[in-house]
Amino acid sequence: MKQRLGIALGLALALMSLLGGPARAESGYDLWLRYQPVEEDYAAANQVAALVTGQRSPTLDAAALELKRGLTGLFGTPPAQGSAVAADGALVIGTSKSMPAIAALGLPLQGLGDEGYLIRSVSIDGHKATVIAANSDVGVLYGAFAFLRLIGTRTPLANLDVASSPKTRLRVLDHWDNLNGTVERGYAGASIWDWPALPEHVSRRIIDYARANASIGINGTVVNNVNADAAFLTTEYIEKEAKLADALRPFGIRLYLSVRWSAPIELGGLKSADPLDPAVKAWWQSKVDEIYRAIPDFGGFLVKANSEGQPGPQDYHRTHADGANMIADVLAPHHGVVMWRAFVYANDPKIDRATTAYNEFVPLDGKFRDNVVLQVKNGPLDFQPREPFSPLFGAMPRTSLMMEFQITKEYLGQQTHLAYLGTLYEEALKSDTYEHGPGSTVARVIDGSLDHHPVSGIAGVANIGNDPDWCGSIFNQANWYVFGRMAWDPEISARAVADEWVRQTFSNNPAFIAPVVDMMMKSREAVVDYMTPLGLALIMAHGHHMGPGPWDTIGPREDWKAPYYHRADAEGIGFDRVASGYVAQYHAPLKDAFAGVATTPEDLLLWFHHVSWDYRMKSGRTLWQELVAHYRKGVDEVAAMQAAWAKLGDDVDPERYAQVRDFLAIQHREAIWWRDACLAYFVQFSRRPFPEGYKPKYPLSYYEKMPYGASPKP
Ligand code: GCU
Repeated sequence: MKQRLGIALGLALALMSLLGGPARAESGYDLWLRYQPVEEDYAAANQVAALVTGQRSPTLDAAALELKRGLTGLFGTPPAQGSAVAADGALVIGTSKSMPAIAALGLPLQGLGDEGYLIRSVSIDGHKATVIAANSDVGVLYGAFAFLRLIGTRTPLANLDVASSPKTRLRVLDHWDNLNGTVERGYAGASIWDWPALPEHVSRRIIDYARANASIGINGTVVNNVNADAAFLTTEYIEKEAKLADALRPFGIRLYLSVRWSAPIELGGLKSADPLDPAVKAWWQSKVDEIYRAIPDFGGFLVKANSEGQPGPQDYHRTHADGANMIADVLAPHHGVVMWRAFVYANDPKIDRATTAYNEFVPLDGKFRDNVVLQVKNGPLDFQPREPFSPLFGAMPRTSLMMEFQITKEYLGQQTHLAYLGTLYEEALKSDTYEHGPGSTVARVIDGSLDHHPVSGIAGVANIGNDPDWCGSIFNQANWYVFGRMAWDPEISARAVADEWVRQTFSNNPAFIAPVVDMMMKSREAVVDYMTPLGLALIMAHGHHMGPGPWDTIGPREDWKAPYYHRADAEGIGFDRVASGYVAQYHAPLKDAFAGVATTPEDLLLWFHHVSWDYRMKSGRTLWQELVAHYRKGVDEVAAMQAAWAKLGDDVDPERYAQVRDFLAIQHREAIWWRDACLAYFVQFSRRPFPEGYKPKYPLSYYEKMPYGASPKP
């Protein structure tokens, strides 16, 4: 019986896929570049008849190939290809140099810079045409992807006039990939870099990775973990990296390396890695020269120094600036940059960890070379579901600062939980630092416009691996996508990006788009609610950070223990960061607002203050009741996402549909775990009753003993 049902289902699926419906099973490999057929009426009104190209280059070829592939998929027939406009409906692509017809149009290209593009409806030799024009080949490639996005989101093509250029210069993915193919904090399978196969072979997957990045404007990739292995700097690996760089170059992507500070000792046999030792500088100089001989457009180095046990200049009583500048000086003649990480914190329980990066780096403001950019995590702790923006943004006007976001969801449910990070990124970027009064947003700090820095940028810790769908889940792909779109334009809205991602990834059916965008927009807040509401942070299980661990006191350092962060006791809960000196690191009026319990935004209350369990919240509930309400709301939101998805099967192929459905079920089970475990723990301190008959299902000891990978039955 079962078997017959299976055959019937198989036949039905095959029939549906023949009819071109959503039944064609998709693994997710094609990401948002699926190029599925458009509806007939759209096709009739927007047909692109011919693709007209001029002089060739690897990048212009990539643009033409992508357009051919995209237009063939979207409109069902390949466009004719030629070198001149002969009829209405041509798409003409190129630079003024590569394409005389574009030069003849006298388009306003000057303001586009060297990566921007213009897409415009024009008339050429009396024929209606569309041009994708730019000052550089890579601008044309970005324009080609933007044009395909317009079709993917069903924008009418008749009267186009789109000009766009990136607001930030470095738009970089940081891969925390190790030499042995594992990925630190990676939840999407093994590393995509196949080092053993290099330099001979670059897989198709790498080309598709480059296409996906170019489609959203990412122009750099740091291929190895910040906890770096010196082996990435050996001649053997430079040869492999050069081959990879060759493959990425047509797509406008530069290769960068994370470097281990002590490499001169480990690889060069030197006795020291002191940045002021001439022998150390000479070693770096010759290493850098060797890299540039192999990779002429090499981007530069990312450095994690004197952080979490990594070696660094402070081992020699030198400052971060001494270290960064030495490396910057050897990179400068090659136009390379140093992305120096500000993720440092002291092992001193008397010092608030959130204050440490500011204390260490602000005195160095103005001391860094022009090709050093300080890479700062969005919050002062560590990629929590919610943190206030790092007070370093706005505090170092004489230093280029770049943002470091985490795309991989180390602390937000890892592979399975649906958490669209667009809202998190938007919240951080829109935050006002008040550095020069109102409007001094974090976005303007990191795009360089606030203090006029030529180097600007955003890095995202990648969520990419060898899984069939690249990111461990379909919805995790949205986080790669929104990262790139916000790196291009830090002021774009999370909702607009969610909308365009849903249209390209799933469907243009309005009845599908609205509920799915709604799910995405609420999803991160749901995670905040069931994990760390009201400003709680770092109460995840020790080490792997999967699941709750507010009780965790494992480990050698006080600031790696959960009670250090939540500080729950009989009086109340939360971290008094007025007393710790943290609040004073913000500019007025923020530091005044954050100084008072009543003037602190409630969603960050326990981040800034230790608050009594009976404190009256704006809702009229006590703090204890409010905490319980948030944990419950988080679980309810996940149930609401499940219910919404249950109604949407018709617009998604069965394979991707089932993955989302199943992962939401996991998320629901684990959200209940978070809620119940945390509340079972905190009630020991609050000693207040649970409201409305709610009660955790199991005693605290049960949750405390939960082994890694297991979660309670709901
Ligand atoms: C977090 C993360 C580590 C990572 C570190 C970093 O602490 O858990 O795996 O190495 O951040 O950003 O350097």
